[in-house]
Formats: sequence, structure tokens, C-alpha cells
Amino acid sequence: MKTVNVGILGLGTVGGGTYKILDMNRELIEKRIGKSVKVVKVLERNLERAKSMGLTEDQVTQNPDDILKNPEIDIVVESLGGIEPSTSFMLTAMEHGKGVVTPNKAAVAAGFAKLQETAKANHVEFRFEASVGGGIPALTAIQEALAGNDFSEVMGILNGTTNYILTKMTDLGLDYNDVLKDAQEKGFAEADPTADVEGIDVANKLSILMALAFDHYVPPTEIPTVGISKITMDDIEAAREKNCKIKLIARAKRDGDQITYSVKPMEIDNAHPLAGVSNEFNAIYVTGNAVDELMFYGKGAGALPTGSAIVGDILAIAKTL
Ligand code: HSE
Repeated sequence: MKTVNVGILGLGTVGGGTYKILDMNRELIEKRIGKSVKVVKVLERNLERAKSMGLTEDQVTQNPDDILKNPEIDIVVESLGGIEPSTSFMLTAMEHGKGVVTPNKAAVAAGFAKLQETAKANHVEFRFEASVGGGIPALTAIQEALAGNDFSEVMGILNGTTNYILTKMTDLGLDYNDVLKDAQEKGFAEADPTADVEGIDVANKLSILMALAFDHYVPPTEIPTVGISKITMDDIEAAREKNCKIKLIARAKRDGDQITYSVKPMEIDNAHPLAGVSNEFNAIYVTGNAVDELMFYGKGAGALPTGSAIVGDILAIAKTL
């Protein structure tokens, strides 16, 4: 049986989840794709953490080139987070003939064209399903199953951390800072949760969604963005009195050549399906001129749900090798 060799940059929440899925579903994966998928190297500073996950000492490196330029590696998973050095690492991996998979929305949104062009120029695949909506396979659906549609709207709840915070504040009256801490401990939040609570993470995801659905790239920094850090219990109570819940909503609408977009907290009527999206769950709505309205729903953050999308991308590439 052919073996497809994978290198993982960063064995944090998401990289660790990816490793775990490839390990726990090994036999099933081999049966499905007729190939064995093996993690041969990980870039990780914390050797003890790597060892506790079952990796041997020589599978762990501190030198990115041991993965990026390693002729034995077919696919690189970049799960370090942040724009740099992640983007440079992904470009180097592609230039060395490797397929690249990433959940890194900040890097994908910032370097959208450059990353796609480099993949094309080097005849390798670049996949980033996990970058929007965690385990929800919306990006692949938009690019494949829904590719025959002209889209007029994309909207949704795209951040697990903020949705978790708003849910616990609304349903249990818990304190903002306590719930944020809880979300960090559960592995939902970014290393610096400012990106979550100020809506920057959602702007990155909306930029990616617009690029795919509308074939129109808007830099995330140009998306008007308001986060949830100023939402108080009074705001939540005021919404409750109107039979609404406050949700952090990303929305982009196209009308001819005109596209409007924003990320902001909104009062959502309890009868609307988005009001029922709780905790770390995300929902993505798209409207296409053939399919009409479509909603994707699932876990938008966390090790295994996000790892699920990464492993899906790894296997999609592995099948083509
Ligand atoms: N911090 C992100 C979230 C992780 O809470 O949604 C998934 O992109």
C-alpha cells in the first residue's frame, strides 16, 4: 500500500486534533482511500506534549526546513496560526512540491491571491476548508457541489468563541471574562483572543467566503468590523425584552456590481434559525440563484471538529498523489 507522508507545523489544539484523527481512524482511512497516511514529522517546541500524544523524539523537530524542504513529505499542514511566518512557510512548502492544508484564516485572508497563485505555479494543491466554520464543510461545498450557482448573499455566525460567550451570558447570566477564560481552556479561542472578541477573526472568514462565493476579494482590514467586547448584560436584557438574542453576525450581500459587507453584533429574533445556534456552533447561510437558501450548521471551533476538516483536505490531496 502506498504511504502518503504528512508534516505538521504546530501541534497545538488544531494540529493535535489532526494528529489524533489520523491515528484513531487510521484503518478506516486506509480502507477508504487505499493509501496509508502517516505523520512523519511535526514542528513543535514542546517535546513532552508531542511525546504524550504518541510521537517519538525523532518525529519532532524545531527546524521548519526539516518539514518544508523534506523530500519525503508529500503534504504539509500549517497549524501555527498568525500571518507570519505561516505564510512564508506555506509558500516554501509549495515551492518544494508539497500540497498544503491550513486552518489559518488570518494567513489565507491576508495572502489569498499569492497563496493560490503559488500553488498553481507549482502544480500543487492548497486547501483551507478548516479556515471557515471549523468542521463545517462549506468552502468545499461552495467550490464544488454549489459551483453552478451565482451567489447573492453569504451570512452567518462564524466564530465559536464569541458565540460561546454570548450564549453563556444570555442563558446563564455568566460574566464575560469568566466565559472567555472557559472558551480559552476549551481550545476555542485564538492564542490572543482579541481577534475573536473584536470580530477580526470573523472578518478574515468573511473575506474568504466572499472571495469564493462572489469571486471578489475584499481584504479583511476593509470590512467594517465591530466585536462583542462592549456588549453588556443590559444589552442582552434589552434584546431579551424584544424576544431577541444578540449574535455576532457576518454578512455580505451582492446586488449587481455592488457588494455590501459587515461584521457586527445584531439582535436576532428568537424565531430566526440563527438565534438557535448556541455555544461553539457556527452557521453559514448562502443564497444561490439555483439552490436558493442553504444553511450549514456545525461546530466552528475545537480540536476534533476543526481537525475533521483538515483531515478531509489531507485525504482529498492524498487521493490525487
Ligand atoms: N477562535 C476561532 C473561533 C477558532 O472561536 O471560532 C476557529 O476558527
